[in-house]
Amino acid sequence: MSMHTITFFANKGGSGRTVATMALASGFLAQGKRVAVMDCTDLAGCNPTGPHPSTLQNWLKQMAACKFRPPQLELIECQTREEVEDSAAAADAQGIDILLIDTFARIREPQIAALGIADLVIAPAISPFEARCILDGIDEYLGPAEDVICLVNGCRNGAAEAAETRCAFGHHAVFLSELPWAEALSDQIINGDIAHFTSSLTCRSDKPGFARFREAQFAWTAVQRFAFEVEFALNGHRLEPFDGLSAYPIKRKAVA
Ligand SMILES: Nc1ncnc2c1ncn2[C@@H]1O[C@H](COP(=O)(O)OP(=O)(O)O)[C@@H](O)[C@H]1O
Ligand SMILES: [Mg+2]
Repeated sequence: MSMHTITFFANKGGSGRTVATMALASGFLAQGKRVAVMDCTDLAGCNPTGPHPSTLQNWLKQMAACKFRPPQLELIECQTREEVEDSAAAADAQGIDILLIDTFARIREPQIAALGIADLVIAPAISPFEARCILDGIDEYLGPAEDVICLVNGCRNGAAEAAETRCAFGHHAVFLSELPWAEALSDQIINGDIAHFTSSLTCRSDKPGFARFREAQFAWTAVQRFAFEVEFALNGHRLEPFDGLSAYPIKRKAVA
């Protein structure tokens, strides 16, 4: 099987691209896949040992501490169109299963190349505002795209805002799975792998840390559900919303 390429798109900063990239990497690694993350943001090419490593370099360090390192997980940094195309081809040749590409809000040549090689474009938003920006961005940069699926990535103000964000994506396809607003996601550059972080918090229900553990566990479950839905999408399937009506209607017995 050859490699699948997923590019994250948002023409506004702070939409949750980097968070979703790291989360999906954890999700796919848990499935035993070989994952490469490509940094196609303005931070690509930072000195990893300098005073200001990039977000993904920091994350990679924590992932390595969680025992994820090559050949299971790779970080590739690209600043030109040629680097994007050549590195993607090299990753494929190397046996990588999934290439996740984080991009920059300003769409230039390397970002256009990253969108061009994608099997699937994921457009995340953390609130209705980002979702509306993305709608304009999709029209401007991607045109009538079939392989773009939007993602409700953790709304700070809870379920009502998440529902509003979903609506704000308009007629575009939106993943049924949503990511929650959670520490396990926002602090991936500190904690690395989400499964590892969650298991580090495990404790008994009568202990004070239990709420924190439960929140992380909830986020990790959501990430795994999302990873499976992404895999479905890569294979051309779309989950339909569950309408609550079973295909096998339950016959109720009259109770006297
Ligand atoms: N699901 C989430 N839960 C908690 N915080 C989140 C979540 N998604 C995004 N954030 C926070 O929102 C901000 C923007 O996310 P980020 O992934 O950096 O956006 P982008 O890469 O699109 O600029 C960051 O501070 C990040 O920690
Ligand atoms: Mg980012």
